[in-house]
Amino acid sequence: MNYDQARYGDEDRYEPLLSEKDTTSVDVDEASPLPEDLTRDSLELPRLSEPELARHYTRLSQMNWSVESGPYPLGSCTMKYNPSFTEDVAADPSGAVHPDRSDGTIQGTLELLYGLQDYLARIGGMDAVTLQPPAGAAGEFTGILVAKAYHEANDDERSEVIVPASAHGTNFASAAMAGYDVVELPSGEDGRVDLEALEAAVSEETAALMLTNPNTVGVFERDIEEIAEIVHDAGGLLYYDGANLNALLGQARPGDMGFDVMHYNVHKTFATPHGGGGPGAGPVGVTEELAEFLPSPQVREREGHYELYEPEQSIGKVHGYQGNWLVLVKAYAYIARLGDAGLKDAAAKAVLNANYLASQIDLDIPYGPFHHEFAATAGDRDAADVAKRMLDYGVHPPTTKWPEFVPEAMLTEPTEAESLDSLEDLADAFDSAMNDSTEEIESAPSKTTAGRIDQAAAARNPRLSWRALGEEE
Ligand SMILES: Cc1ncc(COP(=O)(O)O)c(C=O)c1O
Repeated sequence: MNYDQARYGDEDRYEPLLSEKDTTSVDVDEASPLPEDLTRDSLELPRLSEPELARHYTRLSQMNWSVESGPYPLGSCTMKYNPSFTEDVAADPSGAVHPDRSDGTIQGTLELLYGLQDYLARIGGMDAVTLQPPAGAAGEFTGILVAKAYHEANDDERSEVIVPASAHGTNFASAAMAGYDVVELPSGEDGRVDLEALEAAVSEETAALMLTNPNTVGVFERDIEEIAEIVHDAGGLLYYDGANLNALLGQARPGDMGFDVMHYNVHKTFATPHGGGGPGAGPVGVTEELAEFLPSPQVREREGHYELYEPEQSIGKVHGYQGNWLVLVKAYAYIARLGDAGLKDAAAKAVLNANYLASQIDLDIPYGPFHHEFAATAGDRDAADVAKRMLDYGVHPPTTKWPEFVPEAMLTEPTEAESLDSLEDLADAFDSAMNDSTEEIESAPSKTTAGRIDQAAAARNPRLSWRALGEEE
């Protein structure tokens, strides 16, 4: 038994490392140009046939949960299915060009980037877009830096950014990292922005209000025009957290609501892979007044020729070259394939699916009417226990215990990608887990590869290689 077996406590679920299988030693006798302390003269390699190797990786992939295994209704995260045709487009070898090549020799690459800037600007109701930031959170940080540069250019130094208490943690972090004091705005009784509280919080120190709409409980901020007026009258800017844009695609645009700057989480809206904080994309859109502060380089078109340029008062670079090219190719392919009508339909179905699922479960949903997601409450049960039990019913659970103002919250977002059958499976999993005994839910999950893990320790103290874990043990 090794450390993983000890950890899982069940030999059946253990998948040995390739190096723990039958190995063979290969002698390396060729002289190497590398320094001696970096080379070795023999190498242990696993002795495996191709089917054994394929099965090993298939088993490993089955130990994990993905949207290709079943529904994944993680509220706020929009775990929609990534259609595989986008992979084909991104895998086209003609797209593999060195980013240092001169503009004239990469016209196709620049045309695609320009096209994506344009698509996103039109979808968001913005005037200009940068594709550089590598994740939603990086987009927030970039957007707030752009807002700061705008104020500074107007000799208008401001010190505060207002963030609703229900906002994603990254909003607070982005504002603080950009050097602002964060003013927390409590939610009103109906879960929306409380206009009186906003009036009290806004001042000549307000650089921006960060908001998502529909908000974190899926409810549309219907006073958005008034909110925009309050912030703008005080000289502040309105920042749109694009995490919930999937509910609005083709139906409404943040720019038309009065937002001045926004980020797009392309993994939540345009079916690209999640970034894990970095290798994704979080483009930022802005109105005309802010365009000259965008990161460099931007792509523009002049008489049919595409070129890179540096906006006049650019905040500089936030990523190498033009951002994560292949992720951007996938976003472009997805938007182009769906078109206006397809995007509009995706948003409508995301909202319909959330409302249908909500109608099928017995849990109380304190805030509404909601759009693409809803915050149910597990009542007197522990939301995290119910969620763990749902894993035993073959579905991924929703986001739990967030937002905090919903007691024992189960923030649920099925996305447009789920069929009627899978929504009904999800509803069954909710109700079955809620009706199971305390003993059953407290010891769940029992049918997954790993049982209860210490989530806080895993997040705060990650061991990212088996070697590090092995050395520790
Ligand atoms: C509301 C909201 N804002 C921002 C983010 C950050 O996005 P990313 O994970 O791409 O950094 C998330 C991520 O889950 C989110 O839910």
